[in-house]
Amino acid sequence: MKLSVITLFPEILSGYMQTSIMARAIAAGRIRYDLINLRPFGTGRHRTCDDPPFGGGAGMVLKPEPLAAALDSIKASGKRVVYPTPSGRPFNQQIAQELSREQELVFICGRYEGIDQRIIDTYVDDELSIGDYVLSSGEVASLVIIDAVYRLIDEVISAESLEEESFADGLLEYPQYTRPAEYNGHSVPDVLLSGNHARIADWRHQQRVARTRDRRPDLLAAYYQSKGEQHGRD
Ligand code: ADE
Repeated sequence: MKLSVITLFPEILSGYMQTSIMARAIAAGRIRYDLINLRPFGTGRHRTCDDPPFGGGAGMVLKPEPLAAALDSIKASGKRVVYPTPSGRPFNQQIAQELSREQELVFICGRYEGIDQRIIDTYVDDELSIGDYVLSSGEVASLVIIDAVYRLIDEVISAESLEEESFADGLLEYPQYTRPAEYNGHSVPDVLLSGNHARIADWRHQQRVARTRDRRPDLLAAYYQSKGEQHGRD
């Protein structure tokens, strides 16, 4: 997959792209990326990229011409363009799955009060919100989406890790323990030391259901509905 990110602050993303699993995915040729600095596309002597909103109001809006020039420079028309914004539809694992099947994604990082609506109307396919709170940085929101998406690409991480994790089947994950078996007076649940794989699998499933019921009853209801079971059977 090719990732292109249009941003006023490429340095926010560059460290991430050179670290850990992402760095490995790039070295292995699974991911290519291009960080496009918006500043050189700005207008006038100061390469201005923002302006106050028509109609008044606080803050600044990213101007259309620099964004259009940056998008045209990477031939974004016809590619899947994502704009993270608190006004978008809620991003989730299902959308991450869908985006992970694209050959190429383009991200626009907003700042301040957002970007000119005409850029959204002309170029953007997906306006996505990563949660009901407002970040100062569209770069951080883009990174969240990129992180959730790229790890689903074949061979980036093991299929086994993906199968067992939260949201893969609609339940939260079971608790994990590693050595030592006794830590600070707290011991690991006996069942995990039993070597009985059937009992362990059963215990883990019960933990997932209990956790999901406690923390995300909305997910549990959807889980039972999707399994065609009665709520509360487990
Ligand atoms: N930009 C600022 N806040 C955001 C949010 N919650 N989701 C996506 N993009 C954002």
